[in-house]
Amino acid sequence: MDKLKLLEERIREDGLVLSGDVLKVNQFLNHQIDPDLMYALGQEFVRLYKEESITKILTVESSGIAPAIMTGLIMHVPVVFAKKQKSATLDGGLYTAKVYSYTKKVENTISVDEKFLNANDNVLIIDDFLANGQAVNGLLDICELAKAQVIGVGIAIEKSFQTGAELIKKRGVRLESLARISSFEGEKVHFAGDAEN
Ligand code: G4P
Ligand code: NA
Ligand code: NA
Repeated sequence: MDKLKLLEERIREDGLVLSGDVLKVNQFLNHQIDPDLMYALGQEFVRLYKEESITKILTVESSGIAPAIMTGLIMHVPVVFAKKQKSATLDGGLYTAKVYSYTKKVENTISVDEKFLNANDNVLIIDDFLANGQAVNGLLDICELAKAQVIGVGIAIEKSFQTGAELIKKRGVRLESLARISSFEGEKVHFAGDAEN
């Protein structure tokens, strides 16, 4: 099956629409993880960005790590995840960015150790969800601080009716989302490009 259809099918089968426009995908992405599906997503990101010479994958803990690591595995490049908590073992300099979560109504600081990102890097940012784009926006800020070049962003599930996709494109960054949700209707998920939309 087509990789994008594979993810859409899985969302239709195992995704649960919760109130507040939230899609629960604990069955294959956010709690239990389906490695075969994650690998298929990685293959698709690699196919989409095959013309580019990417040196590093960047994501944010925790749920971005699964699709990110599969992409890094296939590309044979390191995967760096931004940390949400200050760690006692983070010694040297850090690149940090503020990330406001509309869902949780809290501002978090995410950080990447300076030794894992630099001006020679061509970065592909990967994340599981794109909602309001605050996480990706923070990762873009971190790349700017590191003077790393951002090749693009790869998202597993985009909620196209929220503001994130527009925000990323406004920053002039290429965005590839494997499943694009145009709306929720009761328990039903509508994808961009569906005939019934
Ligand atoms: P944003 O980065 O796009 O602005 O997202 P937002 O602040 O709205 O979301 C906060 C967290 O909720 C993020 O995970 C994000 O991935 C996740 N999220 C947003 N919309 C949905 C949704 O419809 N379904 C699910 N399952 N998650 C959603 P996080 O807090 O960083 O947690 P994690 O990566 O450790 O899981
Ligand atoms: Na995430
Ligand atoms: Na999440």
